[in-house]
Amino acid sequence: MDKKNYQIIDLPRVTDERGNLTFIEGDGHIPFDIKRVYYLYDVPGGEKRGGHAHKILKQFIIAANGSFDVILNDGKNKKRIHLNRSYYGVYIPTMVWRELDNFSSGSVCLVLASEHYLEDDYIRDFNEFKKLTDSI
Ligand code: TYD
Repeated sequence: MDKKNYQIIDLPRVTDERGNLTFIEGDGHIPFDIKRVYYLYDVPGGEKRGGHAHKILKQFIIAANGSFDVILNDGKNKKRIHLNRSYYGVYIPTMVWRELDNFSSGSVCLVLASEHYLEDDYIRDFNEFKKLTDSI
């Protein structure tokens, strides 16, 4: 998997005996301005999420609680990334197929997104995604 197609980004940590704090500034810690935040939670054991790529949207995914795997595919190679701490995450640029699985009980998948929700930006058919990436 080409390194330009994902990036593990460490976030600032303010450690404190009262509890730790991490913060994220758009266009500072992550390479886009944040337009939307959503999160996945109550994911039943064995379930998978994702299964799409985006034409315009960029995302940054954090395991805010618990752990899960993000599987990335740039059309040529695959990479499985295990996220299990809330002080780092994975940046996913455009045109990368992503799947999420292996959710631990009680896990929370926090997603920061560069765009508002737009169904037209999704590529949900893997064959269509392959055709588009083969032509790049
Ligand atoms: P989807 O992005 O396919 O979920 P995931 O990739 O996490 O498995 O979204 C699932 C449904 O939720 C879909 O019908 C669209 C809706 N949705 C919104 O309405 N707004 C949003 O910001 C998101 C991410 C999804």
